[in-house]
Amino acid sequence: MAQFPTTRLRRMRQHDWTRRLMRETTLTPSDLIWTLVVSDRANPREPVASMPGVDRLSPAAAADAARQARALGIPAIALFPHIDPALKNAAGSEAGNPDGLVAQAIKAMKDAAPEVGIICDVALDPFTDHGHDGLMEDGVILNDATVERLCDQALMQARAGCDVIAPSDMMDGRVGEIRAALDSEGFEHVLILSYAAKYASAFYGPYRDAIGSSAALKGDKKTYQMDPANTDEALREVELDIAEGADMVMVKPGLPYLDIVARVKTAFALPTYVFQVSGEYAMIEAAAANGWIDGERAMLESLMAFRRAGADGVLTYFAPRAAKILNG
Ligand code: PBG
Repeated sequence: MAQFPTTRLRRMRQHDWTRRLMRETTLTPSDLIWTLVVSDRANPREPVASMPGVDRLSPAAAADAARQARALGIPAIALFPHIDPALKNAAGSEAGNPDGLVAQAIKAMKDAAPEVGIICDVALDPFTDHGHDGLMEDGVILNDATVERLCDQALMQARAGCDVIAPSDMMDGRVGEIRAALDSEGFEHVLILSYAAKYASAFYGPYRDAIGSSAALKGDKKTYQMDPANTDEALREVELDIAEGADMVMVKPGLPYLDIVARVKTAFALPTYVFQVSGEYAMIEAAAANGWIDGERAMLESLMAFRRAGADGVLTYFAPRAAKILNG
């Protein structure tokens, strides 16, 4: 490359039109997946204290959100349930209830806007009284017994009309078992988005408030979620999930893990998503509320950063707000 003063990189930054011409990365509503919390208590919506701007929605309000997603050009919604504490138990048996909140919400949303993809989390934590993603015995998570329950949960979701099954539990072997269970009931067309590289993160705090599992959670999730210090392990997780039949993979959390997103996308070249989790949302909102950062710019910059790192899409609580801006 020629040196200064022949080369001046600022020449290309002079105008909006030159900046637009050399822009490498795009961000559109098609890159967003709207993460949405539903609750049977919400009437029709109730705020989440630690996530200003995010409400828990009733199934009817979630159906309205699905119509809104369609109008905004958001391709899919990822659903997370806040369950009545009275329905929680050690086995998380409400997770497989065909008449429960999740099934109701899926049906209401698919009726309202069938063109919008519905993604459901597979994990027991919203439904267990101990707040863990799996079954426990003497304080130990039972991997294989949990996977059986996860298959039941996934089948319930598929029967209710869910388009994408998204295991977020981090049990070993669950993607392959869920794929087999879905296929055995004729759900070959149902996709699997695996939370392949999911870290034991402090950034999930507000989410656990949103779904009401934080009060319940005993201990931590370090025996199943990954150590934030590791990257090779993330590649092994992703490789196994692909071998077991994952159509898409996810990295979670988002901004602190952009190196993982880049490495996964480069290594496997398959549809790769990233979850901008509740704590990341809350940090931007809290700083913006204090006037310490420009919240709108920080939101769009973070979303663009995910795309630049290689993500095909971003799961984010900002989805409707960002889509409105991106649509002009
Ligand atoms: C649990 C689950 C979590 C999130 C999605 N599914 C939290 C956890 O593992 O405790 C986090 C989402 C967020 O923080 O926005 N299966």
